Amino acid sequence: MTRPLFHLHTPRQIELWRALFTAALPECTVTAGDEPVDDAKVEYLAAWQPPAGLFGRFPRLKAVFALGAGVDRFLDREDLAPEVQLIRLTDAGMAQQMIEYVLAGVLHFQRGFDVYAAQQAQGRWQPQPFRLAAQTRVGVLGLGEIGGAVARALRGMGYDVAGWSRTPRTLDGMVCHHGDTGLATLLARTDILVNLLPNTPQTRGLLNAERLARLPAGSALVNAGRGETVDEAALLAALEGDHLRGAWLDVLVNEPAAPEHPFWRHPKVVLTPHIAAMTLPEESVAQIAAKWRALARGETVPGEVRRHSGY
Ligand code: NDP
Ligand code: OXD
Repeated sequence: MTRPLFHLHTPRQIELWRALFTAALPECTVTAGDEPVDDAKVEYLAAWQPPAGLFGRFPRLKAVFALGAGVDRFLDREDLAPEVQLIRLTDAGMAQQMIEYVLAGVLHFQRGFDVYAAQQAQGRWQPQPFRLAAQTRVGVLGLGEIGGAVARALRGMGYDVAGWSRTPRTLDGMVCHHGDTGLATLLARTDILVNLLPNTPQTRGLLNAERLARLPAGSALVNAGRGETVDEAALLAALEGDHLRGAWLDVLVNEPAAPEHPFWRHPKVVLTPHIAAMTLPEESVAQIAAKWRALARGETVPGEVRRHSGY
């Protein structure tokens, strides 16, 4: 029996990925990067940042495994045929990293580190009024593998957390909202808004001027989902107009940010280069190998993307 051909395409550490997949999937012949491969025989692909035309190379493709949680860069591609299964990473060590990242952003605003940084630059020693975690209302957009873990962790630390998702969800100790009315309710009671939504046609531009205006004056945004969810011009206006206290951003509409992007040097913005939760090769390959075997047994696997919903 011929061994299934499993090809890898990722912009970084291709040799490491090849070694890990070769060890984890002895049932397959693993090829990687630009090495010669019989495209007509490739059935499985693992990829990140797929270049234009990558999927179209492989006419017998059965499944694509995304080496990340967000699949927006896979779904906006015409060469990925609808019958090909698309499977994303589910947590795979990213949720814990995201908890740490979001916590840093939440603490920054809750404990006033933004104000103290400005005061330090002025040589000003001035304690500010103190706000407890329990008095800090955090709103988490997206309650999936990562957003749900973040919401639970913040709740566990005593924050007053509410969440929002597409379908109704129940999380202990939190009010969970869904739908347009639910979003309006959540925004109106939020001091720190955390975005962990995927980028889909429904979430694109969701945080526009009107919705940012629903946040109480002096609230802040932490965005570690996707840049496309936020209308950047509206965010800039809300910061400059002093409606928002600040923004802590890991993701932008265009990455990397252009040198002239106003967020680089904005005093109310903390900007990080899309590092909130990195793909961990060992965990990810182990997860993909387990999912590959489950698929081979005809089972359904977590993280199979419903193409029509965009995540
Ligand atoms: P999931 O698919 O597990 O969860 C997505 C959540 O968003 C679900 O709760 C879903 O609702 C909700 N959602 C989707 N569409 C809508 C909508 N139209 N309205 C309201 N809620 C919606 O994804 P993950 O938690 O694994 O990842 C979330 C995102 O985080 C990724 O898509 C990616 O963009 C981003 N990410 C960023 C990283 C970084 O380093 N900055 C690293 C990893 C991920 P429901 O529960 O009803 O399905
Ligand atoms: C992801 C990401 O979606 O790195 O995994 O943003």
